[in-house]
Amino acid sequence: MSYITRVDHIPDPDFTQPIDFLALGLFQDKGQQENHQPVDAALGGLISRVLERKDFKGKKGDRLLLHHDGPLARVALVGLGEEEKFSTDIARQAAGWAVGLARKHNLAGCGLLTFECGLPEVELTQAMAEGLILGSYKFTDLKKPEEEARELENLALYGPVSKAGLERGITIGTGVCLARDLQNNPANIITPTRLAEEAQRIAKAADVKCTVFDREQFTKMGMGALAGVAAGTDQPPKFILIEYTGGKSGEAPLALVGKGLTFDAGGICIKPSAKMDEMKFDMSGAATVLGIMQAVAELRPKINIIAAIPSTENLLGGSAQKPGDIVKAYNGKTIEVINTDAEGRLILADALSYVVDKYKPAAILDFATLTGAVLIALGHRASGLMGNNEQLIEEVKRVSEQTGERVWELPMWEEYSEDIKSKVADVKNVGQDRLAGTVAGGVFLQEFVSDTPWVHLDIAGTAWQDKDQPYIPGGGSGVAVRLVIQLILDRAE
Ligand code: BES
Ligand code: MN
Ligand code: ZN
Repeated sequence: MSYITRVDHIPDPDFTQPIDFLALGLFQDKGQQENHQPVDAALGGLISRVLERKDFKGKKGDRLLLHHDGPLARVALVGLGEEEKFSTDIARQAAGWAVGLARKHNLAGCGLLTFECGLPEVELTQAMAEGLILGSYKFTDLKKPEEEARELENLALYGPVSKAGLERGITIGTGVCLARDLQNNPANIITPTRLAEEAQRIAKAADVKCTVFDREQFTKMGMGALAGVAAGTDQPPKFILIEYTGGKSGEAPLALVGKGLTFDAGGICIKPSAKMDEMKFDMSGAATVLGIMQAVAELRPKINIIAAIPSTENLLGGSAQKPGDIVKAYNGKTIEVINTDAEGRLILADALSYVVDKYKPAAILDFATLTGAVLIALGHRASGLMGNNEQLIEEVKRVSEQTGERVWELPMWEEYSEDIKSKVADVKNVGQDRLAGTVAGGVFLQEFVSDTPWVHLDIAGTAWQDKDQPYIPGGGSGVAVRLVIQLILDRAE
């Protein structure tokens, strides 16, 4: 297991009893807070002395580990920054830093002292629980453990919490970690078949319907674009659906669509070999959707949700599609495949139009590692956002601010749609050479949602991180799981 799915709660801690590691959050230049006093007393006033000597200022991200001979063997001070600028995301980061420290010192447990601030307790507790679980994540399933390394085993919150926030934080954190595991495992393990099995496992636990269509079935159903991409691989492709009906029967569902390219070699327009291994992450949109659905299965929000995952590899087999081929998507539109490496939009074209046709969703959100161009525009710090409905766009931006998962809107002015016109088919799968690549992907997808309110998140820059972040270790991030669950919970209220 590459993460911990339990956070213990000690409401009335006794600091005269042994605690291996306890982290305390401190605001900048505020001195000692009331809740620290019992800890300070147990340490014989050590925290007071450290603060008096100005050895710790509490700047955001400051960390200091104190050792003591008493039962409180190690106490970590974690800086929360200025109190006026405090947010739930800083609480999440602080929890992540705490776990990082415990792990660095090879400790078996990580405790965090809860505290009060202006924010609602339920949100604060949720963020701390999420931060602990997310910070505990480390992908080592396929590696022999290092000799003297001790595994982190316990996470705990000491002090008053919101029980509801704690439960919610654990469930959501675990959903994100599932997404990370699916991302980080390599393409020879996470195949379309495996994604389908994961969907079935989640659906079974939640007692909801899951349908998996194989190559023959989805080809017959008219999904010519997915079939075109899948033509180059022997690994069986799948079209996966999960139907969650927590809302009123007949109420239009929220549709979640995730790109499930379990490996993208580029097809005949083959990618350069440098960093091609990273294309195991090209199923991150699917991982996001599955992470969300696992949490939904536990949280049981009163809303209908339809999850759809088109999944295949993009390889170069003898039957692979070729530049210039024309395929027909589920909605009847023909697509000229100029570049076989712009395959994500092809498989999404079928999935989006299928969902629109069969479920008449109230809204669609799609998640896709669609373009390298979004990395040029936004780096690893924000997902590209595009959509056709102002209200839905605002809704996503709002929850994004709440959860600290940044999004940035790119324009979809109708002139951009000129760029994907084809001389020989209804559309082509690329825009102008090297120009506005992310927008070209967005306007292409728009052709397949008709007038359904829809938002597309291009997560090619955020789905995985090169460097460790406070609660995101390098590798798969499980991006947008938290954001979408917040949106779902808000809608279901
Ligand atoms: N999966 C890639 C996008 C990608 C690239 C994600 C790098 C993360 C890192 C996608 O299928 C792709 O190859 N897109 C092409 C589109 C182009 C051919 C129009 C790209 O971005 O180069
Ligand atoms: Mn590609
Ligand atoms: Zn791709």
